[in-house]
Amino acid sequence: MKLLQERIVRDGNVKSGNVLKVDNFLNHQMDIELFNEIGKEFKRIFSDLKITKILTIEASGIGIACITAQYFKVPVVFAKKAQSINIDGEVYSTKIESFTHKKTYDVIVSKKFISPEDKVLIIDDFLANGCALAGLIDLVRSASASVEGIGIVIEKGFQNGGEMIRSMGVRLESLAIIESMNAENGSIIFRDE
Ligand code: G4P
Ligand code: NA
Ligand code: NA
Repeated sequence: MKLLQERIVRDGNVKSGNVLKVDNFLNHQMDIELFNEIGKEFKRIFSDLKITKILTIEASGIGIACITAQYFKVPVVFAKKAQSINIDGEVYSTKIESFTHKKTYDVIVSKKFISPEDKVLIIDDFLANGCALAGLIDLVRSASASVEGIGIVIEKGFQNGGEMIRSMGVRLESLAIIESMNAENGSIIFRDE
């Protein structure tokens, strides 16, 4: 997505440790006009799918998921990070091991909000090692619902999450895939360039 790539080049900041800071328009301050274009693009890409629900994970996936949901006209459910408290029979839960944050946490979603007939589109802002995404897929499958597609705003193509998820046979579309980036000179190269 050209508009998104241009924005990443203009306002993104490459930090050491392969971290891309985009908190000027995506992760902290949010550019809703851009979000609207992103929502439209997800709708265009997945227009052949019959979606009943959008699933994301707190915190920074929620904004993008909500704007996207206006184009699909379906509810958004966000999985909650639970820190191992009161996980009872009322929720589906999974463990996510974050390489980025070097910790494991439980992620839950109420059984009330995903049912076997749901056709789920998963939306998230970033894909790095894919642990969060693997957890979301696990939650949907625990509910015997189906993952129809996954839409990601920025994929770090040099980390292994994209390959891991695509090899599961899930349809994954990322609006911008970063092939490489350099903290020294700030350069960012996209996969389709
Ligand atoms: P992981 O397995 O390496 O932990 O990667 P994963 O793809 O699961 O992403 C883990 C978290 O790190 C996610 O947010 C993701 O958005 C964020 N992340 C990964 N790489 C980058 C990056 O280069 N830049 C930015 N801005 N974020 C990145 P989270 O921990 O779930 O938290 P939240 O921010 O959504 O609350
Ligand atoms: Na994030
Ligand atoms: Na996220």
